[in-house]
Amino acid sequence: MTERFDFLVLGSGVAGLSFALRAAEHGTVAVVTKKASVESNTNYAQGGIAAVMDGSDSFEQHIADTLEAGAGLCDPEVVAFVVREGPARIRELMAFGARFSRENGRLHLGREGGHSAHRIVHAADATGREVERALLANVRAHPNIRVFEYHFALELITEHHLGQHVSRLRPDIHCFGAYVLDERNDVVKTFLAKSTLLATGGSGQVYLHTTNPAIATGDGVAMAYRAKARIANMEFVQFHPTSLYHPEADSFLISEAVRGEGALLYNQAGERFMPRYDPRAELAPRDIVARAIDDQLKQRGEDYVLLDISHRPAGHIRAHFPNIYETCLRYGIDITREPIPVVPAAHYQCGGVLTDAYGRTSIAGLFACGEVACTGLHGANRLASNSLLEALVFSHRALEPAVEYARGTGWREDIPPWDDSGTVRPQEWVLVSHNRDELRRVMWDYVGIVRSTLRLERAERRTRLLYEETEDFYRRSRVSTGLCELRNMIAVAYLIIRSARMRRESRGLHYMLDYPEPVEAECRPTLV
Ligand code: FAD
Ligand code: SIN
Repeated sequence: MTERFDFLVLGSGVAGLSFALRAAEHGTVAVVTKKASVESNTNYAQGGIAAVMDGSDSFEQHIADTLEAGAGLCDPEVVAFVVREGPARIRELMAFGARFSRENGRLHLGREGGHSAHRIVHAADATGREVERALLANVRAHPNIRVFEYHFALELITEHHLGQHVSRLRPDIHCFGAYVLDERNDVVKTFLAKSTLLATGGSGQVYLHTTNPAIATGDGVAMAYRAKARIANMEFVQFHPTSLYHPEADSFLISEAVRGEGALLYNQAGERFMPRYDPRAELAPRDIVARAIDDQLKQRGEDYVLLDISHRPAGHIRAHFPNIYETCLRYGIDITREPIPVVPAAHYQCGGVLTDAYGRTSIAGLFACGEVACTGLHGANRLASNSLLEALVFSHRALEPAVEYARGTGWREDIPPWDDSGTVRPQEWVLVSHNRDELRRVMWDYVGIVRSTLRLERAERRTRLLYEETEDFYRRSRVSTGLCELRNMIAVAYLIIRSARMRRESRGLHYMLDYPEPVEAECRPTLV
């Protein structure tokens, strides 16, 4: 079965939805998403969106904070236009109906680690839910947009599917759409598109502990890599310092905004440890806070540290953090009276599919924005709340080239249907769950917050075995979401390990025991 649209959008988070709304003014749009539309990292974003919205703040300060967090690897031009275009994108979101927290009639601006000013626009502590709600309501009402839920994108279609040899060195690869598994009808459809936007988000599920929901399996980076797009900076995985530690909680995030409102970190002996690691203490950038916690846990042999906001008035805590307050209470922790046990967890993929300043990838007709993309904004470490901002700015900037490309091209009508000859319905499902668990543990143990050459070598050996076994199984099996996600997670793990091995220094989020200092000669993006 073949579907034809002017624009194909893969993913229904902030990047995909805000692009879809703009593209729909220029043609027909398909939004393909692998679960219910709302399921995305966006929906779980808590702290907010960084933007200069107040006269006491300045673009220069936001730019300087972003560059400092990025540890020498940000593209300064990208940082400058993202920061400067931020306020206009926030106003557009409000015009789409997003309602943000206000105080005395003005936007209430929160503060987070690494920011020198209060500049986080937020909807209490559930900003992403509000952004997703507003965008989805507009998307559902738009006559030019069709949303395909429970549709899993398998592969980007390029010249490779026309039987041609495609290599990463070939400068003229084109994207003609994607093969997509309709999960409910168990059939693979061909989606033909003039312009395709990859907005599939991040890959936190590659790690055993993550703040990301189940959808974050790195499918976009893996598909783009297989299609021979350029991928950059995959070694820079951001670990959020404060994820709830509780046997029944599935890595629930305790927002950095809680530290912004004065919460302090203690070890289990009751010692406040952050001032020993950085003069900014609890408000240091999150790589520093995550490493300090990791160090405390390893030194003291403990499973968690404590985050305490209970010295602030109870009414203030409940008003600012209703979602965190309610969730912790469900687990028996009253944050207005007692500290919260927390641990670091994988949170954000700073690298991804390499794009230019307009979201163009190295494949013609393929654009990328949001967490799947590496635009040059984050460098070696993302500043808190800069990712929703990046997605909004780049989905806006990608519109013009995507429309222009679509105008100059037609649908490719000679694309063969998905070939599943020689495959059968798999019997041995245990391989998928076993290999997935093993991969996530290997990544957590050997490619985590603190790395070394020895640990990376171990991870590489084990990942290669998982790859060979999984590929052999894949070649014989009918496609399914679970198996394809595993393949994609293995591809992303391989890219993280390979990029980490290429970077023989410590910079930003990439900390190597055997190369503990930054090296000037290594200060350039890692390209695969
Ligand atoms: P997502 O929102 O993740 O959307 C990706 C979409 O692609 C989903 O709909 C998914 O189902 C779909 N998809 C994936 N693979 C496929 C496939 N193969 N086929 C079809 N569909 C597919 N950032 C901030 O700036 N501020 C914050 O306060 C903040 N808080 C956060 C809190 C949490 C708990 C988490 C997890 C992240 C937070 N982040 C925050 C990061 C931010 O939420 C994400 O980086 C951002 O939302 C990514 O948006 P996106 O549109 O690129 O991807
Ligand atoms: C948080 O609320 O701490 C998350 C902010 C972010 O990831 O940018």
